Amino acid sequence: MNRNIILSLLFSIAIALPTFAGEGMWLPLLLKALNEEEMQSMGMKMSAEDIYSVNQGSLKDAIAHFGGFCTSEVISDQGLLLTNHHCGYSEIQSHSTLDKNYLKDGFWASNLSEELANPGLFARFIDRIIDVSEDVLAGTDAATTDAERDAIIAKNIDALKGTMVLKAYEEVQIKPFFNTNQYFAFVTVTYNDVRLVGAPPESIGKFGADTDNWEWPRHTGDFALFRIYAGQDNMPADYSAENKPYTPKHSLPISLDGVEEGDFTLVFGFPGRTKQYLPGVAVEQTLNVLNPAKIEIRDNALGIVGKAMREDPNIKLKYASKFASIANYWKKWIGESLGLEKTNALDKKAKFEAELVQRSPAAKTYLEEFDTYYKAIEPYALVKDYFSEVTGRNIELMRVASISKRLVDRYDNNGEEGYKGYAGRVIPFFEGLYKNYDASVDKAVFTSLVELYKNNIDAKYVPKAIQGNVNGLADKVYNGSMLANGEKYIKLLKEGSPADVVKALNADPGFQVYNEWAEVYHQEAAVQYSGINTKIDSLQRLYMKAQMDAFPEKKFYPDANSTLRVTYGQVNGYEPKDGVWYEPVTTLGGVIAKYIPNDYEFDVHPKLVELYNDKDFGEYATQDGKIPVCFLGSNHTTGGNSGSPAIDAYGNLIGLNFDRVWEGTMSDINYDKSICRNIMVDARYILFVVDKFAGAGHLIEEMNLVHPKLGQVNLMPTVGEKACCADGSDCSKCETMCTPEGLVKSCKKCMKKQKQCKKHKDCCKS
Ligand code: ARG
Ligand code: GLU
Repeated sequence: MNRNIILSLLFSIAIALPTFAGEGMWLPLLLKALNEEEMQSMGMKMSAEDIYSVNQGSLKDAIAHFGGFCTSEVISDQGLLLTNHHCGYSEIQSHSTLDKNYLKDGFWASNLSEELANPGLFARFIDRIIDVSEDVLAGTDAATTDAERDAIIAKNIDALKGTMVLKAYEEVQIKPFFNTNQYFAFVTVTYNDVRLVGAPPESIGKFGADTDNWEWPRHTGDFALFRIYAGQDNMPADYSAENKPYTPKHSLPISLDGVEEGDFTLVFGFPGRTKQYLPGVAVEQTLNVLNPAKIEIRDNALGIVGKAMREDPNIKLKYASKFASIANYWKKWIGESLGLEKTNALDKKAKFEAELVQRSPAAKTYLEEFDTYYKAIEPYALVKDYFSEVTGRNIELMRVASISKRLVDRYDNNGEEGYKGYAGRVIPFFEGLYKNYDASVDKAVFTSLVELYKNNIDAKYVPKAIQGNVNGLADKVYNGSMLANGEKYIKLLKEGSPADVVKALNADPGFQVYNEWAEVYHQEAAVQYSGINTKIDSLQRLYMKAQMDAFPEKKFYPDANSTLRVTYGQVNGYEPKDGVWYEPVTTLGGVIAKYIPNDYEFDVHPKLVELYNDKDFGEYATQDGKIPVCFLGSNHTTGGNSGSPAIDAYGNLIGLNFDRVWEGTMSDINYDKSICRNIMVDARYILFVVDKFAGAGHLIEEMNLVHPKLGQVNLMPTVGEKACCADGSDCSKCETMCTPEGLVKSCKKCMKKQKQCKKHKDCCKS
């Protein structure tokens, strides 16, 4: 073979198989077929069945969708639930006041009766997952038009739901995968009584706040504890004082042995949304047009809110949660753009597309059509992002107006009945919103963002209502609108008749501005956007299928869609820039090094300093006597994976996922093993804080702490039977070694860990 042929063959193999170990968010029911072998080759000692099984208890029975936006896991046989501090943030905030500030001081229930109820919060388990593609797609083929296809699918889904046999409390969700090329059904059981058990102060749970967010090295103890309560029969029940702690089908043991570079890690949870299979033009638009626009809007809003928070502790408390969530994606988009550039994502897409076209000529047409559509949609997409960021997110008065508009529409279309149904849901939402509202802060945000909108958006999308002097407009709106005065507006909503409310809204200057703005947006941009977007969606389905058909040797994983997934990788550092290597583990010494007394983000609680100085670390320290805080892995995660357990080779909890590194946030669009890392809190830091810092030893007692690396193979019976030794090697190589449980058999390889015996002098004497 000549050299060129060999080279081009090598090249095509390299780009034909772009999935790296570490990349992928896999469906648990397909692990056996797609991943088990690779996982075991990376060090996993479990079988796919230990992770997901329909017939017996498995890891998945400990994993719960937390409120539908985060992940959580059961860590005791009394339903103790672990998730991130930032996932429980609004619950912790809602139980707080300036005098009794659980955000600032932390909260620890000393017994069950002190645990705090959270109306509306739920924990949802997945009982089983079923491939229903055939049923859902029956009656469609390549000739079916989009409209027919949608109708057939909707009908098939209805029919299917009607025939599925569900037990009491079970519900089913049927969701599309691979851009509607496949469908899976998820049978779920949802618990609605989830109480707050414990949370560290923000100076631990949110240490480093926005400065450190999305960054490494990280020192945040981002965890909180909740508990699931159930009825007397252990089944879901609405909140009641009579409810009792839920007995789970499985709870995760917690490893005290920690991690080191190269260790296998598995992250199990509910990733929200990714877009791995887009054409290059779409990525280019995100990078060059949409991300910069959204970043600029939030830059402005955050500058104003941040300043007000620094000046006034009351505003700090009111705006803490909102600020964090707006800052979060602002910073993420900046990192995403940096990472896309750093990893040459556009070049990679171009190369991949060239290879795809070679294999599948139809793809050429698809790519050309994408070019046309993305060009056409660009101005509308920009207005859409602007409109939703400005009126739906950052200016709260506009947000209230937009929800109130729906209320008026219900009244206009469905009369009093339609109005009342909606008002019943809207009033409590507004009460929560106004509890944390400050009209003068909002007015400043309004002034800044209206100005920005007018400067950056084509005149044809700018309504008359916001033309002219912006300061004058802001005065008019904030002095004249009842929406700027929560008490007044809620009183009217509660006491006024529907006709009164609608009349008052229609006459309200704030409501009028929103209405006119929304009308221009809908007529000039939204309709056009959605027309083109429908075509893009349908093309993306064909394009996805073309990719899967053209690369039969490649394992494809579906984009995240808030369904249960497994991702796996290894504990790994990375090189953020030339000449710099980031170690994968941080320690308490790093917290102390970042300590700035009384700082907004880097204050450290005196008790933590004292524990550090006294080296009062209990059994939670590393072999060299340090308290581990966070670690990095190459697991492919995204928003929604917050609170996901990091699990070791044997099925024990070793950490709690809460973030990614900045350079790697583009993994939502373009995973790259070189810099995509997820960030986890070390389980031992959590235990240390609960036990030593908070003195909540009663919670530690509920948990099952284990030493897998010392030969104590735990949990799943199938694992225990198979593996005599912690590293899975065969029993003839076992030797006796010491563990806290006394002498056990372990394997030679583990003996190098004998240093650990020093910690357990008693058993070593024998
Ligand atoms: N970046 C993490 C995640 O996306 C943590 C966010 C919470 N912390 C914060 N400072 N905003 O959600
Ligand atoms: N902090 C994110 C969350 O709330 C997880 C980090 C990420 O996006 O990877 O889900």
